Amino acid sequence: MMPAPENTARQLLDFYLEAGADALVGEAPVDRFAAADEPAPVRVARAPERAAPPADITRPSPALAAAAPQAPDEAIMAARQAAKCAATLDELRAMLEKFDGCALKGSATQMVFADGNPQAKVMLVGEAPGRDEDIEGLPFVGRSGKLLDRMLAAIGLDRSSVYIANIVPWRPPGNRTPTPQESQICLPFVLRQIELVDPDILVCLGGPSAQTLLGIKDGITKTRGRWFTFNTGKREIRAMPTFHPAFLLRSPLQKRFAWRDFLSVKKALAE
Ligand code: URA
Repeated sequence: MMPAPENTARQLLDFYLEAGADALVGEAPVDRFAAADEPAPVRVARAPERAAPPADITRPSPALAAAAPQAPDEAIMAARQAAKCAATLDELRAMLEKFDGCALKGSATQMVFADGNPQAKVMLVGEAPGRDEDIEGLPFVGRSGKLLDRMLAAIGLDRSSVYIANIVPWRPPGNRTPTPQESQICLPFVLRQIELVDPDILVCLGGPSAQTLLGIKDGITKTRGRWFTFNTGKREIRAMPTFHPAFLLRSPLQKRFAWRDFLSVKKALAE
């Protein structure tokens, strides 16, 4: 017997959900197979106004935005320009709100900038917001955030004594890891955020955060627990990669290593 159409549709939706596709990115379906059969668009020379960016490069003209998505290298340049102009965290947040160079902005509900105390001595940087963060507009508020809060409490810290941000401030669809390109586009903003917060200690939560911020290739199992030097732009501070709380939820046996890392942070703070 054929399954009822509504059952097939539900099974398909369940399949998508399980595969992590839990976000709506457009109002109407797009037939990508049909699009693939169409002849490739002819590449045209870059319009002169694109070569010379408008005065406010964080706000491309609507015509340009509609014509083509910004090329990644242009987006990185625009992000650098915008981030360096921000004199305060509020200005940086405003710059980031206006920035259209990262496509994740289009699928996210809202931007997730930061939480905690901008005067904190410890700054933690995660990867990207998940579903709960996308809804609430704050980093680490879901299950991994609850674990992070408990880990911080274990060394006498909480959100009034740390500052928390992410490499990428928009949720990637389905909570996938941001692509290296998305991370590089957003990197100038988080670098400026670190410079403006000016913490004594930087904690990179998870491999992608450590690799992006510290410019290292090794995976988190190799780098966690080690102190690195990080130049904020103002001065050199200590930085430590540790396991991401979401990983610890999946692999609770690894918590003992994260515990050691957090004890090192506590010790460093007391020095
Ligand atoms: N994971 C992250 O890396 N950041 C968040 O804000 C939440 C989950």
